[in-house]
Amino acid sequence: MAKIFITGGAGFIGSTTSERLLKEGNDIVTIDNFNNYYDPKLKEENLRIVENCAKQYHRSYQCIRGDIRDKEVMNKIFEENNFDAVIHWAANAGVRPSIEDPLFYVDVNINGLMNLLECMRLHHVKKLVFISSSSVYGNNKKVPFSEKDPVDNPISPYAATKKSGELLCYTYHALFDIDVSCLRYFTVYGPRQRPDLAINKFTRLMLEGKPIPMFGDGTTSRDYTYVDDIVDGTIRSLKYTIDHQDVYEIFNLGGSHPISLKGLIDVIANTLGITPIIDQLPMQPGDVNITYSDYTHAKNLLDYEPQVRIEEGIRNFVDWYKKENGYE
Ligand SMILES: NC(=O)c1ccc[n+]([C@@H]2O[C@H](COP(=O)([O-])OP(=O)(O)OC[C@H]3O[C@@H](n4cnc5c(N)ncnc54)[C@H](O)[C@@H]3O)[C@@H](O)[C@H]2O)c1
Repeated sequence: MAKIFITGGAGFIGSTTSERLLKEGNDIVTIDNFNNYYDPKLKEENLRIVENCAKQYHRSYQCIRGDIRDKEVMNKIFEENNFDAVIHWAANAGVRPSIEDPLFYVDVNINGLMNLLECMRLHHVKKLVFISSSSVYGNNKKVPFSEKDPVDNPISPYAATKKSGELLCYTYHALFDIDVSCLRYFTVYGPRQRPDLAINKFTRLMLEGKPIPMFGDGTTSRDYTYVDDIVDGTIRSLKYTIDHQDVYEIFNLGGSHPISLKGLIDVIANTLGITPIIDQLPMQPGDVNITYSDYTHAKNLLDYEPQVRIEEGIRNFVDWYKKENGYE
């Protein structure tokens, strides 16, 4: 049992992981600013579910509505609590919008992380799980992607902020003995997925009978990873970081079964029983050709093994989406 500080706890992955942490007997304090990157009502709903879960399992759960860049708020949280560990999800998370507003991405993803690392240093909190992204691999030619591959060529400001975050975490590990696991998530999907991401967007458009914007010829591939597998890998890495000394590790958390964009559209269409209308558009800047994880390192150190294949995961997502949106 641990007391954990979570940033971005009202979001898609933060809220899903919080439920598991509470069920396993941990207490949580979270900070989230409920920004309007997507409809904040969805985050309020996530929060309500997590609060109910805390009640059901008799755990302590507190959500502070604030910004990770706010020094005063963050310091107060660390002054009032004695945390065993931190999981840092709060970030500006989209690839394409980071090209439109790079300064905002740097402000939240780098300055926000620095504010957190400083609070950890000042308040002697020594265990951190930092959420990075497969986007750090850019257009890596070698597949699958390994943590040993060079990641010096990010092709979006978002990816560059995540790589910078990994470096800053290393610096705080080296200087101040903060143990860190950096998790490179590969495109995460499942119930509560952000509405800006492909699976959610395509499902909505198909159900509304609208065309699906397909950027490129449909051959770009993504290693989609089901949220329960991501939750499992994240909690395994948290335990590893808490239980070991002198940790600085980078872990790929992926499903290792990339699927093409056209293949993904087909799986969603088959699940919905709908013939999709496809609107083919040029490739978007910042988009990589393929993501494909080699998760051997996470398997060896964490015993991480993803369980959910795309057909099953999409079925779960579609069932959830239809229920949430009044389709059944
Ligand atoms: N979803 C994916 O496929 C994916 C893949 C790789 C990495 N990641 C990373 O995982 C993390 C969570 O992603 P998600 O899909 O759950 O996104 P999300 O947007 O649903 O969750 C992020 C949460 O952080 C909060 N937040 C953002 N800026 C904040 C700030 N300045 N102060 C306080 N709270 C703030 C948001 O309100 C939101 O609730 C992000 O760091 C993202 O970069 C996600």
